[in-house]
Amino acid sequence: MLDNPMWLRDNCPCPGCRDPHSGQKLFQITDLPDDLAVGEVTERAGEVEVTWSPDGHRSVYRRDWLTAPAPVDHRSEAGKRLWAAADLAEAPHADWHTYLSSAAERVRILEAVRRLGFVLLRAVPAEEGRVLEVARSFGYVRETNYGTLFDVRVEPTPGNLAFTSRAIAPHTDNPYRDPVPTIQLLHCLTNAAEGGDSGLVDGFHAAALLRAEDPEAFAVLTRTPVPFVYRDARTELTAVRPLIDVDPLGNIREVRFNNRSFGTLRSPGTFYDAYRAFAKVLARPELMVTFRLAPGDCLIFDNTRLLHARTAFEQSGARHLQGAYADLDGLASTLAVLRRTAALDELEALFTGPGTGDYLGEAVTMAEHMRQAAALAEASGAPAHLVAAALLHDIGHLDGGAELMSGVDNRHGHTGAQVLARWFGPEVTEPVRLHVAAKRYLCAVEPGYRARLSEASEFTLQVQGGPMSEEEAAAFAALPGAADAVAIRRWDDEARSRARRPPVSATSGRYWPRCCAADRSRDNVEVAIELCTVNATVPGR
Ligand code: OGA
Ligand code: ZN
Ligand code: ZN
Repeated sequence: MLDNPMWLRDNCPCPGCRDPHSGQKLFQITDLPDDLAVGEVTERAGEVEVTWSPDGHRSVYRRDWLTAPAPVDHRSEAGKRLWAAADLAEAPHADWHTYLSSAAERVRILEAVRRLGFVLLRAVPAEEGRVLEVARSFGYVRETNYGTLFDVRVEPTPGNLAFTSRAIAPHTDNPYRDPVPTIQLLHCLTNAAEGGDSGLVDGFHAAALLRAEDPEAFAVLTRTPVPFVYRDARTELTAVRPLIDVDPLGNIREVRFNNRSFGTLRSPGTFYDAYRAFAKVLARPELMVTFRLAPGDCLIFDNTRLLHARTAFEQSGARHLQGAYADLDGLASTLAVLRRTAALDELEALFTGPGTGDYLGEAVTMAEHMRQAAALAEASGAPAHLVAAALLHDIGHLDGGAELMSGVDNRHGHTGAQVLARWFGPEVTEPVRLHVAAKRYLCAVEPGYRARLSEASEFTLQVQGGPMSEEEAAAFAALPGAADAVAIRRWDDEARSRARRPPVSATSGRYWPRCCAADRSRDNVEVAIELCTVNATVPGR
């Protein structure tokens, strides 16, 4: 990064370069001197200071910011979990009331829309207009020529096949809009008719299958603009977009598929072969999850990815859904803001609940042990992800510590890593996973290490497999995260003393280091939350 001065300077966080309130940049890229160069570089714990030539400007960068990986585009397949019907034991779902009352539940549900493409909210009162409340719980309603909401039921003069009792094949809604509605909601008020069952297909998965099986067809669909059209007495909408849209990196980003509103393609070339090949993949029965909406069910899905369908129903039967559109960017924003507090609430509950239990026969509780480890990490200038890993390294013990002391390996590194993977990327989960192995490793390679272990730690060493063999130690050292795991281990070994009380925040009475909870799917520990402003210094050191 020091070798890309324009980039580095463009990201200067100082209050002269960025408005301290909004964080927005105050200069134009052309304001930077043509002969900009890095002058002096001063390295400090957790920070790097750069003095610039020729203008003498000074910038201070956090080290964890400098090394953060590029964020993933959540709209593209890179941010998704692709599925076929058999991959989903059951549809992701939640009860409307629980969803409203629990931030953690809202995070889980909105994350499911983002990762899997859909969710089913149950027990939304089966009353007209409630679908708008659901949309507004995570974003903004997109009003269209159909209104803020639309009724899906049999109409006398239907302007859309959706408003008949016919079957509807898997499709994108409103493909004739640009931008297309990115989220669709369908709320079931009545479903007493014979038939009228629902189906969903992961269009990204189908597109990925086509890419693997018939790359030429895939390529044709990504580069052929297709006109989609809708018209009635007062509306005329046209969008010209490919059936499969890829981002500049080649990742699938949007699927737009709707035979009903497909316009006339001029100069089709080989398009129809590709179109039919894709349609055949989409029609594979194993790709479609099927279910039946019951009154009160509200389906929320990603209309740029999933295709939705219904079977025909008897025309006289009572079936009434209300639908609305909203957008993914609003949902992503709601999710990000919720995460700031929801992850912390859950973690804090672990510290104030099970964390108050004894730590393996040492003089401290588990919560104290972990907070001490974090304070030691922070005091040694460790980057945020390691402070977080130290703070949370024994999360896997919280319900298995007694087991370990009775002589059964609870594999708490692995279970802890699993829990943390909900919020953190591998830079946090891997050192946690490996911190037990790191003890066995240090016993093998570092003379004198084993003799310094506490009594309890020596006992658990035996349960966990004893010192590593030479081959095991070599294999361990080669693992990504091994060096970080060793660092965690050393703080872990030290953090067992009554005297070493971690500092406590004056306001909340609790200690949290300056680490951050992270968005797991971004695979990094980008600062999402400053847990506390306390800068740790560890008494007694
Ligand atoms: C729609 C639609 C599905 C259904 O209105 O866009 O696809 O189950 N309806 O009626
Ligand atoms: Zn539809
Ligand atoms: Zn520990």
